[in-house]
Amino acid sequence: MEIVIQPTYARLAEVAAEIIRDALLKKPNLVLGLATGSTPIGVYEALVEMHKTDGLDFSGVTTFNLDEYVGIPSDHPYSYHTFMETHLFSLINIPPENRHIPQSTAVGHVGFCERYEAAIVAAGGIDIQVLGIGKDGHIGFNEPSSSLGSRTRIKTLARSTLEANAPHFGGTIDAVPKMAITMGVGTIMEANQCLLLASGESKAAAIANAVEGPITAEVPASVLQMHPQTVVVIDEAAASQLKRIDYYKEVYANKLELLDQEI
Ligand code: PGA
Repeated sequence: MEIVIQPTYARLAEVAAEIIRDALLKKPNLVLGLATGSTPIGVYEALVEMHKTDGLDFSGVTTFNLDEYVGIPSDHPYSYHTFMETHLFSLINIPPENRHIPQSTAVGHVGFCERYEAAIVAAGGIDIQVLGIGKDGHIGFNEPSSSLGSRTRIKTLARSTLEANAPHFGGTIDAVPKMAITMGVGTIMEANQCLLLASGESKAAAIANAVEGPITAEVPASVLQMHPQTVVVIDEAAASQLKRIDYYKEVYANKLELLDQEI
């Protein structure tokens, strides 16, 4: 795992956006796995800025979102369909037919999940999968105890996730949808590269467990230790419980130095 520690959330967002931009410049038909939540918002803002200012072209890009709540209409203000439209899709030029988000209904979900997996394969697989992390170590809506080999399916959300998302649903966890369709841990692991983002003290324990703890279904993000190309981009607060902060910083500084020499 490459651990990139940035001083602030703003820098974290820029670094993550630059990783996506560089990949897009190399491969105009990039397949992106996208995440929702508060953490990637700054990354999407930076990509929108690159599109507006530098003409970064997304017209060949295909996207697959990690997850969507089940039981609210897709045009609900806090659906992930609405989130993506608001923060990214309405602001850059990804063709509508190239954007994929899990459906928001349980009706026919088994067939839907199979077709979602097939669509990822048909697109050539995901090049970069953007990931947030829950306080409980979840990725997507793969809560603790999710099979590390799981595929896209319907999942019941953990209480800590309902609590974290309650502010979007009037403050009460009863109003938060209890289920979601999410890519599985196994689906995520098939991406060529995973880009795990975390900001703030509240994620410090989850990041320490995911990066330096044992690989366990109790912390689904810990399976990323087995992924050959995971970049963890975090701010100082989210890094604060890591044991080897100095080493990670030294590794990254050396990488930048080597890149400078190559230019
Ligand atoms: P957050 O959510 O970015 O809103 O903190 C991350 C997650 O729960 O996966």
